[in-house]
Amino acid sequence: IRFVFVQPDGSEVPVSATEGDSIMKVAVDNGVDGIRADCNGSAACATCHAFFAQELLCELTPMHEHENDLLDFAATDRQPGSRLSCQVIVSRCLEGQKVKLPDTQ
Ligand code: FES
Repeated sequence: IRFVFVQPDGSEVPVSATEGDSIMKVAVDNGVDGIRADCNGSAACATCHAFFAQELLCELTPMHEHENDLLDFAATDRQPGSRLSCQVIVSRCLEGQKVKLPDTQ
């Protein structure tokens, strides 16, 4: 699955990802700046915050209440498309999409 990470300055980092991996893992494996992932995917740190296109959200991994709560503590204010990228699994709906990264994690 190919999609693009977009840095806060607008620069784009295209990646090729395997279905079933988390978005956070894809970012880390590809050396993408802007995802810290301090808790290594345990949904405990909110430093893997990313913004997804809203029209995609219904097809992405559903958000659990814990993720929803944690997003309120993200360093950059949450937006309607905010997710913790360790909780979103790569699926076909991401093909060709852009995943924006926040200024601060
Ligand atoms: Fe810590 Fe996602 S890596 S919440």
